Amino acid sequence: MVGRAAVITGAASGIGLACAEKFAAAGWGLVLVGRSVTVLDAVAARVGREATPVCGDVAIASTSRQAVAAALERFGRLDAVVGNAGVTLAKSVDDTTELELEHLIAVNVKGLVYLAQASHAALGRSRGSFIVMASNKGLVAQRRSPIYVATKGAAVQLARALALDWAPEGIRVNALCPGLVDTPMLEAFLSELPNPELARRELTAEQPLGRLARAGECADVALFLASPASSFVSGVALPVDGGFTAQ
Ligand SMILES: NC(=O)c1ccc[n+]([C@@H]2O[C@H](COP(=O)([O-])OP(=O)(O)OC[C@H]3O[C@@H](n4cnc5c(N)ncnc54)[C@H](O)[C@@H]3O)[C@@H](O)[C@H]2O)c1
Repeated sequence: MVGRAAVITGAASGIGLACAEKFAAAGWGLVLVGRSVTVLDAVAARVGREATPVCGDVAIASTSRQAVAAALERFGRLDAVVGNAGVTLAKSVDDTTELELEHLIAVNVKGLVYLAQASHAALGRSRGSFIVMASNKGLVAQRRSPIYVATKGAAVQLARALALDWAPEGIRVNALCPGLVDTPMLEAFLSELPNPELARRELTAEQPLGRLARAGECADVALFLASPASSFVSGVALPVDGGFTAQ
């Protein structure tokens, strides 16, 4: 895979960090997008010298433009984009404030649109791959987080629609739909519930494989979707959820 380059958003932790590690190990050049310079610098140093950090908020369009420009400047190409940055909210629709609603839509939906706008031309030149880190909650609902579920539904449909619009240019677009993954986001989600430990046990017991996913298991699938091994896979919303949505 030497000579290929990717932009990964939300690369400082969880699934994004695992993607950075797996892509780097496969020889990809990387632009890593996140919100903290210090954390990103540490991640970039950890995954190797072919990683460039770009600090910014994906809810602001210029962050994505900066990331794509950094890839083109450093590597001269862009072969894959992983739109992974996301935020969750464990609140009922009644309790959700206008600010929280706007924040979730800005990061989980608008952030993907800005990334698509910024990377379209470069991906067209490489006949590349655009990967949306959606969720299996974009395919089936869950209790206690209606706004998050709604934004992930939007993310899945955005990926499908872009797959159709960009197919004539040879760009593949897919939504990766993790189930429950043991990451800082899951910890944050659980901590907002009345009894986090009980909630973790209950959620784990609901999983067909009897455990949560590891971030690396999602990153392996992202790498597959970015690589020529998936050259005829497009417009797919692929659950990586240990069979949860098969129930
Ligand atoms: N953990 C799960 O169970 C799970 C399940 C399904 C889908 N997902 C999705 O996977 C993706 C990664 O989640 P994770 O579990 O690794 O969570 P995480 O919180 O560990 O990682 C998310 C990353 O996105 C970054 N981020 C958040 N808002 C940002 C912004 N505005 N601009 C730039 N970066 C921003 C965070 O700083 C963080 O590094 C998310 O889109 C999430 O919705 C997670």
